[in-house]
Amino acid sequence: MIAAAQAVIRANDRGTYSVPSPRLYPFQWNWDSPFTALGWATFDTDRAWTEIETLLSAQWPDGMVPQIVFHADDDGYYPNRAAWRTGRRSSGISQPPVAASAVRELLDRTGDDARARVLLPRLEAWHRWWHASRDPDGTGLVAILHPWESGRDNNPDWDAPLAAVTPRVDVSALRRDLGHVDAAMRPSHDEYNRYMTLVEDAAALGWQAQAVTRASAFRVCDVGVQSILLRAERDLSAMQARFGLPAAETQARVARLSAAMPRLWHDGAFRSLDLRTARPSDAITSAGFLPLYAGAADAAQVAALAAQFARIAGLCRFVLPSTDPAHPRFDARRYWRGPVWAVVNRMVARGFAEAGHAAIAARIRADTQALIAGAGFMEYFDPLTGQGLGGPDFSWTAAVFLSP
Ligand code: GLC
Repeated sequence: MIAAAQAVIRANDRGTYSVPSPRLYPFQWNWDSPFTALGWATFDTDRAWTEIETLLSAQWPDGMVPQIVFHADDDGYYPNRAAWRTGRRSSGISQPPVAASAVRELLDRTGDDARARVLLPRLEAWHRWWHASRDPDGTGLVAILHPWESGRDNNPDWDAPLAAVTPRVDVSALRRDLGHVDAAMRPSHDEYNRYMTLVEDAAALGWQAQAVTRASAFRVCDVGVQSILLRAERDLSAMQARFGLPAAETQARVARLSAAMPRLWHDGAFRSLDLRTARPSDAITSAGFLPLYAGAADAAQVAALAAQFARIAGLCRFVLPSTDPAHPRFDARRYWRGPVWAVVNRMVARGFAEAGHAAIAARIRADTQALIAGAGFMEYFDPLTGQGLGGPDFSWTAAVFLSP
């Protein structure tokens, strides 16, 4: 299995970056790369650093690190570079900022201070961008402006906010994903039309981050991005301290994000919040456990999340489903509406371990390894049957197997 996992990562290597999966996703994806780097680190630390260096070299002047970097053109994916109209070789939105946390892990593993240190200004500029551009009023809750920015594309968290977006394009004939994967495992045409309406709206504003934030028909605080950013800020601050660099500004951002976390706690769970309507999501999702990974849950919340986990684990064979199986829109096979994703499991397991729940962490890790051993390095897995779903030969799934 170890050799097979390394072979997947090597086959997806394009020299200075990795593609998530050869046909379905032929470019560099933002949050895939740091996880993939941790896989690389188990057998080629130099290449691991390069992965993150390449990602950060695509940073925009305003600090954003884009969701997709189109290093080379490829007809197998839509929306392609032309469709985004950013004037750059990248898409116009971001993705969960896991990079600083991966850099800290790489640094701990390799002790390569020099290589970590040069990345810190870029990481900090990206973190600042989340605050300045996605929280221009300084509320402590950062917004995502597109479901893809969450990395959990068609999660039920976005159903209500996306219903408010009137679709003005029909891109059903342009989609390429359905040529690679069964339509029952992918988002619907209606969702795609709304996704691309948001892209058109932002392109019409020239991708000016603050203007797009204020005008966007979709503006949601994703409990996943909020938690991942908070964790990343803590990891950045630890690295700044290690290098004797000033960390006060980073700590102020940590404090601001932490102070806002209670506003995501509703009805016994952490939930994403629609910032346009102030309505919390009606779903409990895998991202609702990420405040543990952020170190942002108090003792009562930790206990409630452990109980929530036990209830969900009782409803499926393999944890952690991306959507609560008791939710009416749970779908065991459709992308982020039910399937298990290895990278989320990796983060949630860390969160439970650090909150003192070693047994839950062990259960999550064991299920992740069992799913991969049983079905291969698939994109995602059916939590009821363990069947592997989506695209094959996935970089980050192989990486989590190598670096659980
Ligand atoms: C899908 C996933 C996203 C991931 C990308 C590449 O769009 O939803 O999280 O980054 O594929 O693997």
